[in-house]
Amino acid sequence: MTTDQKRFLDEWISFLKIPSVSADNAYKKDVEIAAQWVKDALKNAGCPQTEIIKTSGHPIVYGECLVDSNYPTVLVYGHYDVQPPDPIDLWESPPFEPVIKTTSLHPQGAVFARGACDDKGQVFMHIKALEVMLSQGPLKCNIKFMIEGEEEVGSDNLEDFVKANKEKLKCDIILISDTGMISQKQPSISTGLRGLSYMEVTITGPNRDLHSGLYGGSVANPINVLCEMISKLHDENQRVTIPGFYDRVEELSQEERLEMAKAPFDLNDFKSSIGITDIRGESGYNNEERRTIRPTLDVNGIWGGYTGEGAKTVIASKAQAKISMRLVPDQEWNEISELFTEHFKSLAPKGVTVDVIKHHGGYAYVTPTETIGYKAAHYAYLDTFGIAPIPSRGGGSIPIVPMFEKELGVKSILMGFGLDSDAIHSPNEHFGLFNFFKGIETIPRFYEHYISLFKKKTTEFN
Ligand code: BES
Ligand code: MN
Ligand code: MN
Repeated sequence: MTTDQKRFLDEWISFLKIPSVSADNAYKKDVEIAAQWVKDALKNAGCPQTEIIKTSGHPIVYGECLVDSNYPTVLVYGHYDVQPPDPIDLWESPPFEPVIKTTSLHPQGAVFARGACDDKGQVFMHIKALEVMLSQGPLKCNIKFMIEGEEEVGSDNLEDFVKANKEKLKCDIILISDTGMISQKQPSISTGLRGLSYMEVTITGPNRDLHSGLYGGSVANPINVLCEMISKLHDENQRVTIPGFYDRVEELSQEERLEMAKAPFDLNDFKSSIGITDIRGESGYNNEERRTIRPTLDVNGIWGGYTGEGAKTVIASKAQAKISMRLVPDQEWNEISELFTEHFKSLAPKGVTVDVIKHHGGYAYVTPTETIGYKAAHYAYLDTFGIAPIPSRGGGSIPIVPMFEKELGVKSILMGFGLDSDAIHSPNEHFGLFNFFKGIETIPRFYEHYISLFKKKTTEFN
């Protein structure tokens, strides 16, 4: 490691020590500290204009390196907030005390901490890439940074900020590192994100918890009912049964599906990497299609009744679940939330009441590969990995990305450097040193190619 690399690593580790959990109010101060940390880091990297923008939730960090209005402008987006670390017991080292360990996929070491990959590590790559570029001479493009603190909770305040600041955020392309790639040997560029509709349901039966001997057999047990209702949300082909759910789903052509199937994938590796003996999903689609181009419905959490030690004989008054649906183009997330609510309520037997609340949602996103932004990313990976990157549709969601397109009319380029095995949102999240340093090396190449393709495009049109 060079002395600069060592310093980058130390700085990154100090960033990861700040527990910037956006979902939990107990961490509100830490989220603010993390915002200040990002602002200072941008400033120290040489960004001349930096500010912290307060919102009714967590702050947005904004920075500008404006050089010349004739140059193209790149807006870098990322998030400094992280997912809650729980279940804490399953971490091998504390989530906010970063440690470096090697793994089979990261023989050069990886930093283990919440946010290591999603998204503090990847945001920090952009800050260090800026530092590297500035050390080599003046920028040949304008760069804007917008690093938010509420991505993991739905970006509600950022959405308002974007709508109110279209001029300030004006740019030619948005650059984001908040996704993954296929492997260290096979880079890929994310060409899609799924949308999301997140619901919470409550089944209420009797007005209090009951003795299951005295009442069992004569009342609808809310937990039994909830399980029964959930089991009806998929049919025997693992298709979602909500009427209208698939109506707007974009079907990929056979050609597109064959193209997708060219990406390296090993089913046995996939199974063993997550410790399952077999896969399961919608009939008629392969594993990779099921987790990227097809919509899904999953229970994320379910609770009710007695879960303490030993046994307690009880019929609970309530049972609850959190249910998310991953959506694809051209599903409308608000419409899907409505269809879910209607259908779910229709599944309830007599004797219980059903309440459904809508949490956040967002649209799916697809980026074409013919744009100069995509091409610049392609050549950047080719330069630093020596291998052409494969376009790859991803299964996760970043709801602000389709919003950028709608409000700013600008496409986002998703240059992610994480691996699926990095355990984002899980205990023992980590990010490889190889990936981190490759990111810092590849990002400046993106700017270089983008600037020259942009010039070529403008001279061709003139
Ligand atoms: N960075 C992820 C999304 C992601 C990860 C996309 C890997 C593709 C590959 C982001 O921080 C995230 O976790 N998004 C949430 C949605 C959000 C509204 C909470 C998600 O996908 O569950
Ligand atoms: Mn993220
Ligand atoms: Mn995330």
